[in-house]
Amino acid sequence: MLKKLTLSAAMAMVLGTSGGALAAGGDGHTEDFSFSFEGPFGTYDQMQLQRGLQVYTEVCAGCHGLQYVPLRTLGDPGGPGLPEDQVRAYAEQNFEVFDADLDDFRPAKPTDNFPANVDAGAPDLSLMAKGRAGFHGPYGLGINQFFQGMGGAEYVASLLVGYTGEEKEEAGTILYENTAFPGGWISMAPPLYGDDVDYEDGSSTELEAVAKDVSAFLMWTAEPKLMARKEAGFVAVLFLSVLTVLLYLTNKRIWAPVKKRAKGQPAE
Ligand code: HEC
Repeated sequence: MLKKLTLSAAMAMVLGTSGGALAAGGDGHTEDFSFSFEGPFGTYDQMQLQRGLQVYTEVCAGCHGLQYVPLRTLGDPGGPGLPEDQVRAYAEQNFEVFDADLDDFRPAKPTDNFPANVDAGAPDLSLMAKGRAGFHGPYGLGINQFFQGMGGAEYVASLLVGYTGEEKEEAGTILYENTAFPGGWISMAPPLYGDDVDYEDGSSTELEAVAKDVSAFLMWTAEPKLMARKEAGFVAVLFLSVLTVLLYLTNKRIWAPVKKRAKGQPAE
């Protein structure tokens, strides 16, 4: 009985880690792109987040909102890290928000959130990178996440490079074939082709590079405290290791007289 149980647990582990991607692959292929924030010590690449912000602003913002992301967080350490005056200028130049006091639209301020955008019927992207687990569907085991990550940023990048060029019309909507999208046909026209933006830092503007930049940015919008969380985890593990050693030594010391007595020596 016990043997059977261990065996099935082991099988579940093996299937879980290697088969997770396969199981999800039934409805869409997620490419395992590498990102700077992967792994226990991974951190966001500030320059990449800034480039991703640019791609979002110039391309995606036309259809997608980021309504849960406060504009001021663009200046936070661990994020794109824009200086305060640039955050203000960015907000003013790019977005207008409706002010109930003025009963009119006014340029956005750092205290506002990115605006919502529902005109094109496109979903809000604030939490998209966490909402989509590219590596395993809802049936995945927690252990997958531990070894592989969620694959959210990977999914977004795969989606952006996954267009095959095929189109079809269904009930008046044009659908575009996409290898990453579950079901294979998405109503979003390919938003990126490569060379869609001009980067000031001279980085590559090839399709895959741009797709990865905006995916990294969307991972940050969905998980802005990732670096702080990892740091806290690291300190906790360090603290627990030291505590373990101390407790071990304390334990030895407390029981030392008893051990001596057991060996026939008089206690101190
Ligand atoms: C022309 C409008 C338009 C633009 C520009 C656009 N999108 Fe979309 N996007 C859509 C629509 C519409 C959907 C809903 C598609 C569907 O569910 O079939 C969508 C869906 C998505 C999804 C969700 C897919 C899913 O799994 O449900 C992601 C992620 C996404 N877009 C990312 C982006 C990114 C990143 C950009 C910028 C590089 C971008 N989009 C630019 C219209 C747009």
